[in-house]
Amino acid sequence: MMSINPFSVLAETISPAAIQFFVLAMIALIIIGTIVQMIHHKNVTYFFNNAKKAKLAAERELGAGEKTSIILKTVAHDIATTAELGAGKRRVAHVMGMYGTILFWVASVVMVFCYTAQGTTTPTVWPIIWHVGAIMTCVGGYWFWLFLRVDVLAEAHPWYRIIKADLFVLALLACATTGLAWSYFQSSGSAGLGYLFLILFITSNIVLFGGVYWSKFAHMFYKPGAAIQKNLAEADGSRDNLPPLADAPKQFGLGIKREQPKHY
Ligand code: HEM
Repeated sequence: MMSINPFSVLAETISPAAIQFFVLAMIALIIIGTIVQMIHHKNVTYFFNNAKKAKLAAERELGAGEKTSIILKTVAHDIATTAELGAGKRRVAHVMGMYGTILFWVASVVMVFCYTAQGTTTPTVWPIIWHVGAIMTCVGGYWFWLFLRVDVLAEAHPWYRIIKADLFVLALLACATTGLAWSYFQSSGSAGLGYLFLILFITSNIVLFGGVYWSKFAHMFYKPGAAIQKNLAEADGSRDNLPPLADAPKQFGLGIKREQPKHY
């Protein structure tokens, strides 16, 4: 299973052009969903207005070299390792899910566009990347969903209580899970179950990509932008219009570190 490209097997019954059209339609849904969300929620307008205001409050102008270095450092640290989540399980689960999803998507695009035509052989590395990516997404995502989610960890709601905000993580998990099940049953020769999970895989992809407007999907675009803006604002002294740090010893006691956040 791990070394078989499930899309090339599928291309024996469905035309490769139809599979490729589906992938392009999903990409179009991401773009449309994100743009409509930006217009409707006005988050980008807020972001740019805030950046403009912060620029006026800047204490010094950053040179192009300094800006580039800050952006590169932000990409390598804040974005690539989702530093915002601090040290701990939450960050490990997110990093696993994030890289798993990236591997899953990149391998899907490569296998669908380069290795579904008749007579082409998929290099073993691509199906392996696809399956490993889906498994990593499941490990990180289920760990987050079952144990780390604020509603479950801090609010003591049962893991099966579902709200609209869960659309993204659940659709992502449905894609990875049904994708793996589809590949498993396809390679083990269970045609009926293979087709059942293929339909579920297609449906979860439509929900994931069609639901961008309503879900947290676009945080993967907004978060990097916000991290870069925050670090630039710190370097030019504007600090996002926040007051400077007090020149006094930090004596706040344990604060939020006093106990685990379980207030129920
Ligand atoms: C392919 C890229 C990414 C994927 C698949 C992904 C996936 C996820 C998922 C499934 C969640 C849980 C959503 C929920 O609260 O229900 C989440 C939350 C979050 N993500 Fe991402 N993410 C990606 C990129 C990023 C990036 C680039 C950043 C930051 C630079 C980021 C920062 C966060 C933060 C801060 C949370 C909130 C975590 C929490 O509530 O514990 N993510 N992400």
